[in-house]
Amino acid sequence: MPEASLKKIGVLTSGGDSPGMNAAIRAVVRACAYYQIKCVGVRMGYEGLIQNQMSELGARSVKHIINRGGTFLQTARSKEFRTKEGREKAFKNLQNNGIEGLVVIGGDGSFTGATVFHEEFGLPFIGIPGTIDNDIFGTDYTIGYDTALNTAIEAIDRIRDSATSHNRVFFVEVMGRDAGFIALSSGIASGAQDILIPEENDSLTELFETLQKSEQSGKNSSIVVVAEGEELGNVFELAKATEKRFPGYDVRVTVLGHIQRGGNPTCMDRVLASRLGVAAVEALIDGKTDLMAGLRSNRIVFTPIQDAIKKHNEIDQELIKIAKILAV
Ligand code: F6P
Repeated sequence: MPEASLKKIGVLTSGGDSPGMNAAIRAVVRACAYYQIKCVGVRMGYEGLIQNQMSELGARSVKHIINRGGTFLQTARSKEFRTKEGREKAFKNLQNNGIEGLVVIGGDGSFTGATVFHEEFGLPFIGIPGTIDNDIFGTDYTIGYDTALNTAIEAIDRIRDSATSHNRVFFVEVMGRDAGFIALSSGIASGAQDILIPEENDSLTELFETLQKSEQSGKNSSIVVVAEGEELGNVFELAKATEKRFPGYDVRVTVLGHIQRGGNPTCMDRVLASRLGVAAVEALIDGKTDLMAGLRSNRIVFTPIQDAIKKHNEIDQELIKIAKILAV
């Protein structure tokens, strides 16, 4: 094995946690051990860089975490890192610890922080997409998305039991502040009557038509999956409008919330995290920087970080069509 010129790197998780982040940290740490590079775990994201909360992680220090949700390094959205003074402190600490490169596991906000840092101090970094929202350009899947989907459909299946028992209409809110990926896939997988996402121009008229058609076709209950960021209104507003339009309907609302962020990662998320973790370390060894490691058509690809931050994955129109056809 050729000896890497890089001697020490840091790894941190930043922004919202997602299931599989631990598997990604483990992969980074173990890849470093394999290539004989020292690896330092930074606590609480960028906050830990500023507060100098870092400790060396060996291969054994990440045992028994591949199956655990959350991030054992913890995560934060650091206000101080947004200031020049905060970033200067962070860089001094990195220098004092001899850290020559960084792996940042998080979403686009986390990548923006790393980019600014790189521009100011030249520290090489590679991003790994970790968010349940699946809204990062440059990868087909983000770490945590698959687990969140499985959590969502398990919950919606349970809601369906109750909905069918009472002949009710349920509005179920799933996460996705700006994106409808969780809503669209979990809605199709749980047989939703309608799926409302911010990327589509939804209207109350269409929603009411769909509900009416479903009633006319003999359905006694319906589930409408709504993304958190839906522009037509939140689940409570939509439920209220529906009750007003159909006074005979028995309408209920469930907000799935943060249960979608927790839990043991699925096999898919663990494998994805393992692949991206190793790829990120290898990229740093190869002298690459300002890139995000992702997966496209089951192959590792690297995307310029500016594209990962600024561009957006498009909603698959085929899925929109399928959802409509299957709700007949
Ligand atoms: O960015 C991921 C996400 O899960 C969004 O879908 C959601 O709006 C947000 O995090 C919630 O963040 P917080 O945990 O800070 O409330």
